[in-house]
Amino acid sequence: MPKIGNIELGSFPLFLAPMEDVTDSPYRQICKDYGADVLVTEFIAAEGLIRDAVKSSNKMRFEPGERPLGIQIFGDNVDSMMKAAAVAEAACPDFIDINFGCPVRKIVMKGGGAALLRDVPKMIRMTEAVVKSTRLPVTVKTRLGWDDAHRDIVDIAERLQDAGISGIAIHGRTRAQLYGGEADWTLIGEVKNNPFMKIPVFGNGDIDSGPKAEEMKNRYGIDGILIGRAATGNPWIFREIKSWLAGHTLPPPPSVAERVGVVRRHLLTSIPYKGERATLYEIRKLYSGYFRGIPNFRTWRTRIVTAASTEEVFRILENIEQSHNAGNEDNAGNAGNENTTINPGEI
Ligand SMILES: Cc1cc2nc3c(=O)[nH]c(=O)nc-3n(C[C@H](O)[C@H](O)[C@H](O)COP(=O)(O)O)c2cc1C
Repeated sequence: MPKIGNIELGSFPLFLAPMEDVTDSPYRQICKDYGADVLVTEFIAAEGLIRDAVKSSNKMRFEPGERPLGIQIFGDNVDSMMKAAAVAEAACPDFIDINFGCPVRKIVMKGGGAALLRDVPKMIRMTEAVVKSTRLPVTVKTRLGWDDAHRDIVDIAERLQDAGISGIAIHGRTRAQLYGGEADWTLIGEVKNNPFMKIPVFGNGDIDSGPKAEEMKNRYGIDGILIGRAATGNPWIFREIKSWLAGHTLPPPPSVAERVGVVRRHLLTSIPYKGERATLYEIRKLYSGYFRGIPNFRTWRTRIVTAASTEEVFRILENIEQSHNAGNEDNAGNAGNENTTINPGEI
């Protein structure tokens, strides 16, 4: 049974991979209820945490039901990372995760995220410093290496283990690959099968189904997996993967009523948390996922992403549900026309 420090994770934990502007507390809570075993906050800039910037501090918030949960920090300065770890510790997460994988130019140019893959001695110094500065277990999330010529994760992982980390999550791409091509799991497998590695090794990259999760589990012997993009607007993926791993069955896809219920819950949890405006804006990127496979959703989508108030979104959700119940999805066609008022009674 893999553990991060003393934290029991279950036999093959499924992590919701951290994703900025997606995996905030309201969304994490939904994923947890559908079977995500381990949650991690969106990445948080060390400098922001030290300055007590509102945005950074808000990203640390979580509910007790989200445990076990890690707070993820990133930065380029060893001293700041130590201080940020102390601030994060005060928020009482179960572990602290260091981001050494973010490929985004703005972050890398400043020396954070995946930039540390180009300066492994500094990466190790930073990790040692963070480990020493907190009583919590520290994990690292990183990539295979900087680029094709430097796919040195097997060596890096061993050194990070020596620096005192309690677990490592590896995304099977280099920084240079960004999100292109297919994730290469062979090196993740090599890290896991390195006889010197004692800490749990979690794999990440392109897992979007139960059979794929099972294939990686069996082929590479990893201790758990992280699911990122396939979980965007699709919290049901955790239920599906769990069910598949338990007995090669897949639950029926979520009904329209269940989807609508999850969107309502998302809105109602998020509005007190980050306000109506930010909620309505950020949830927009999840609608396609939430309603994937629903006939004619495209036309509903046009309306729902432009809705200016929660009431309007709720009305549209009601319409989606009623229209579906009536087996009359064609009504959605009207929804593309902004001048059409859809009266639920008419559907
Ligand atoms: C929109 C978006 C935001 C992300 N933000 C973070 C982040 O804050 N911290 C992090 O470690 N990785 C972040 N990632 C990377 C994911 O955690 C994950 O490693 C990557 O998407 C590969 O997994 P997947 O193929 O399952 O999506 C982000 C990815 C996406 C697509």
